Parts: sequence; structure tokens; C-alpha cells
Amino acid sequence: MKIEIEKLDHFARGITKIGEKICFVENALPNEIVEIDNIKEKKKYFEASTKHIIKESKDRIKTLCKYYNICGGCNIEHLNYEVENIYKKEKLVELITHHTDLNKDIIKDTIYDKEYYYRNKIVLHVKDGKLGLFERKTNKLIEIDECLLVNNKINEVISFLKNINNLKDIEQVTIKVGNKTNEVMLIIKGDLKEYLSLLEIVDVLIINNKVLSNKSSILSYIGDKKYYISENSFFQVNEKITEKLYNKIKDEIESYNVNNVLDLYCGTGTIGIYICEKVNKVLGIEIVEDGIKDAIRNKELNNIENIDFKVGKVEELINDIEDDYSSVIVDPPRSGLDNKVIKYLNTKIKDLIIYVSCDPNTLVRDLKLLEENYKVLELTPYNMFPRTYHVECISVLERKSVEK
Ligand SMILES: C[S@@+](CC[C@H](N)C(=O)[O-])C[C@H]1O[C@@H](n2cnc3c(N)ncnc32)[C@H](O)[C@@H]1O
Repeated sequence: MKIEIEKLDHFARGITKIGEKICFVENALPNEIVEIDNIKEKKKYFEASTKHIIKESKDRIKTLCKYYNICGGCNIEHLNYEVENIYKKEKLVELITHHTDLNKDIIKDTIYDKEYYYRNKIVLHVKDGKLGLFERKTNKLIEIDECLLVNNKINEVISFLKNINNLKDIEQVTIKVGNKTNEVMLIIKGDLKEYLSLLEIVDVLIINNKVLSNKSSILSYIGDKKYYISENSFFQVNEKITEKLYNKIKDEIESYNVNNVLDLYCGTGTIGIYICEKVNKVLGIEIVEDGIKDAIRNKELNNIENIDFKVGKVEELINDIEDDYSSVIVDPPRSGLDNKVIKYLNTKIKDLIIYVSCDPNTLVRDLKLLEENYKVLELTPYNMFPRTYHVECISVLERKSVEK
């Protein structure tokens, strides 16, 4: 069947209509005429894949990754990078025009950097001794030699691992690399009898939660701040974009003359530590205990006095916080903010909210719940995850003044 694609959906699939139903087409771009196959009819829509492109979009480019279209890691390597950045902005425009009364002019152009070799972390699966990533939507392993999204140091470790022959009892391998330091952490799940050779190429080796190296964390940089990262703590994957994002937060904090600020969902304390020289004091809250242990070490590492941390769920700790925090930075997981947190922001935060989000859907849902009390000044996409449909965003909200 021949169809013409109208636009891209939020997962970077082409959209068209077959009869009255929408059809989502993998690997098809707007204005392309494609022949589709594997058509699956669902209750409310169709899904299909592109068999053959009859009329090609001017925005289609030759893909570089040899596993593209098989591996589930990337989704839009076939789209020109400049257009990818426009697409990510348009996603936000569509979401706020559909779901809120906000003016689309608050949405700024996408902030971006290099499109390849940007990730400082990869999680690989191992089956029958072969190392790779899962095929799109399945648990079928695609063996890989390299990944174009990760930095060169990670690809070197992948090559080394492929040359040792005893991976057959391993299930999963995680490789993390420190920004600027290039220190490597290798986390293995499964059995590996002979691991001594690995200690020559990595700084931290952890097998089934047991640390086998002299140290248990690697050092990483964002701007001029240093951070320890350990096995279970969260750390942003894209060094360049994280630095741009944190500089933006610092600039906002400075221009609003923020005094005391909460850093909610603080991970290893990264944002609070980055901005604390601009404020009186910071309190960070994070659920992962190892994250807070790293945060406390990171505070000492950067010789900082005016930041404290609490471990626990934000929604449970929030109401026990003293009342002298008038501004907040929130950086929640994909699920967004819990209703108790929304209520706290609406009643207690008197000045500024900086909302960092890795899921525009939940961000827009939450902005709607804050709109009555806050003016949403800005919404900016940051291309933290090039060549995929994912986008990081930052939104700046200012408390509406009370009518006299
Ligand atoms: C997107 S990360 C942000 C981390 C940090 N702000 C950064 O930039 O590196 C979200 C963090 O929220 C934490 N988290 C998830 N649910 C939480 C909850 N209910 N309360 C506190 N922290 C939570 C996760 O462990 C993770 O570290």
C-alpha cells in the first residue's frame, strides 16, 4: 500500500491516515510517499513499517550506524540533525497548544551540541557470550562492535571486552566514563571467573555489587565542578548539554537574586553544587542513599559549606522542610511531580521554580497544575539525547503577584 506521510509523532514515527484511523509508520518522514508493510490494525490505529520509499524527503540523510533500523537505541538517525532540533521544539509547541493556554512564544529554539559520541554511559546485554543491544521492541540481542552515541573511551572498553573469551555466564555490562577524567567504571551482572585483565583497563570494577578495584567511584566534571559517581547514583549522560543546562540554571538563579533554594530530586547533588556560590543556602533531596553519599562527598570535594542533603522521597519529606526556601529547582524522573509536591509548590514557594524534565508530556501536565499561581516565562528544549526522539527541557516559572 502507498501512503503519504503528514508529520512525525512524539516517537519520531511518520503519521498518516488510512480511512478514519491514524497510521504510525516506522522510518518515514513528513512529505515522503512510501510503500508500507507489516501493517497491524489495532482498535484505534494502525502500525506499519516502511518497505520502500517512493518519494524521498529532502531532510532524509544517509545513516552512519550499521545497526540502525535493527537496534532499538536510536530512532531518527535518518533525519538531518538541524531538522531533528526543529522537530524537538515543535513537539513542545504541539503539546502546549493542545493541553494548555500558554502562548507558544515562550518556547525557545533547541539548544544542541554534537550529535554523535556524546554519551558517557551505556548498558549492554550479554547472551551466549555475545555483547550487544536489544533489537527494537524485543529481547533479541544485536551483537555490536561499537555504538556511535557513546564516547570513544566506552567503545575502547567494548572492543576490549569482545576480545576476552569468557563472557558466556554474564548477563549485563554497564560502562560509565568520567567527563574530562576518562576514568572508567565497569559494572558486571553474572559470573566472570577471570577478571584480573579488566583491572588493567578500568578504574572501578564491580561484579554482582562487589567492588573488586581499589576504589568504588569515578570522578567526573561538569564545568569546573568535580563529582564522584558510584554504581547506583544518577548522572546526566551528555557532558556538553548538561553544562549548558546547568549554566542556564545558574544564570536564572543569579538574575532572580535567589536567596535559599531547594534542589529536589538532586541525584549526587550536581545542580545544587553547581549553583551554590550564587545563593545563601541549598537543600538537596534524593531517594537513592548512594546518591546522597556521593552528594556529601561532592560537597567536600568542591569545598562547599552552604549545601545540605536529605535522603528520602521528596513527597514524604517536603512538608517537614523549614519555610525559608522561596525558590526551587525540580528535576524529577520521567513520571514528573507527585501531587503532594505540586501542592507544596503552589502553597509554599513564593518566588521562582526552575523545572528540569526529561519527559515533555509530564512536564506539560505539571505546568498546567502550576499555571494558576505561576507565570510560565520560558520553556526550552535541550537536545540531551541526539538521534533519539527523547528531549530534555527546562522551564522557568515566576510566582504571580497577588492582586492588590
Ligand atoms: C532526572 S534525575 C536528576 C538528578 C540530578 N538533578 C542531576 O541533574 O543529576 C532524577 C533523580 O530523582 C531521584 N528520584 C526519583 N524518585 C524520587 C522521589 N520520589 N524522591 C526523591 N528522589 C527521587 C532519582 O533517583 C534520580 O536521582
